[in-house]
Amino acid sequence: MKTIWRNATLATLADDRGWGLLERGALVCERDQIVWIGADTQLPEGLNAAEEHDLAGALLTPGLVDCHTHLVYAGDRAEEFELRLEGASYEEIARRGGGIASTVAATRAAGDRQLHALALNRARALLMQGVTTLEVKSGYGLSAEHEARCLRIARRLGRELPLTVKTSCLAAHALPPEFAGRADDYIDAVCSWLPALAAEGLVDAVDAFCENIGFTTEQTRRVFETARQLGLPVKLHAEQLSDQHGAAMASQFCALSCDHLEYLGSDGIAAMAKTGTVAVLLPAAFYFLREKTLPPVQALRDAAVPIALATDHNPGSAPLLAPLLVLNMACTLFRMTPEEALRGMTLNGARALGLGDRGRLAVGQRADFVAWETGHPRDLCYWIGRDPVKQVISGGEKVE
Ligand code: NIG
Ligand code: FE
Repeated sequence: MKTIWRNATLATLADDRGWGLLERGALVCERDQIVWIGADTQLPEGLNAAEEHDLAGALLTPGLVDCHTHLVYAGDRAEEFELRLEGASYEEIARRGGGIASTVAATRAAGDRQLHALALNRARALLMQGVTTLEVKSGYGLSAEHEARCLRIARRLGRELPLTVKTSCLAAHALPPEFAGRADDYIDAVCSWLPALAAEGLVDAVDAFCENIGFTTEQTRRVFETARQLGLPVKLHAEQLSDQHGAAMASQFCALSCDHLEYLGSDGIAAMAKTGTVAVLLPAAFYFLREKTLPPVQALRDAAVPIALATDHNPGSAPLLAPLLVLNMACTLFRMTPEEALRGMTLNGARALGLGDRGRLAVGQRADFVAWETGHPRDLCYWIGRDPVKQVISGGEKVE
């Protein structure tokens, strides 16, 4: 069954550079794939399409890929937000047992239905703003049982909503209270949980928080070794608050991505460039924590490391469900160009998840795209708080 989408300005991002603009363009989908793309006037005859949609001059871009979120949690950290405004730092709050630990307590205490409903609402909000592929991390359960529960909820989101969900096991996110003072034992425990989580099909990638308030590079390496034995790709929260040389280590495991990277040094950049590891920048966390050290955007460009962008949605450092605001922040705070920003949340976001079948408008790509009520793709990075979504199309079907 074919569907035609016509009379749109396509921003295909099909080439390595440029928007790939095609005015008065059209595309044809068959089931969940794009099978033809070109000028509206050149649509092939006799397509015998089941449906034809006139987009009335809308802008069409690939569906957004939010490649880094912590969507499954209960509670919030508004009180901590207030404390920080009264002078406490993120690190101090974490050391005092607040921060991630408080979200772990709230998440463990929440019932299955409640935890699922909270995550479903967040995922739906992102979908309605154009996100058709979503990564969801665990990391607020921190026990075999609770990590599995969070990952099962993440999987359910992908079954219940018309979007693709990729899961990452972030059990090595923080030290749970029952392992206080025993970080190495906790890492042993995490390594022992991974085979069963993987066997249940809950883990698309393994992530860790390598930081002086998280885990050391050596502890992270042990988690990655287990991932490698299980044939699972890895990604890393690296160099967010200090340079732990985590990115260089993660590159030894051919990490799909290293994320945050404000303190990334030249060793990490060179290592990432060599292995094609994607740099996932998270301007919302940078903004919300009022970080001062910028990620090395120009050095990443010079080394041709692909740059992706994501919301990092979580209650502690990025309580936002606003993908276009993240594009704007990447431009204003990190001085990325609008084209780099959009590519970051489409093509390069997909790469950060190991997905080559999406992120561009091209024949053979998955039919995930968004029609926007605006004329030029740079507008998506420019306006703040406007909702330009006209129609989200996921897997070739309209999202209602
Ligand atoms: O990506 N850096 C570690 N993890 C999250 C924050 C988690 C939290 O504060 O709850 C992040 O920013
Ligand atoms: Fe994160």
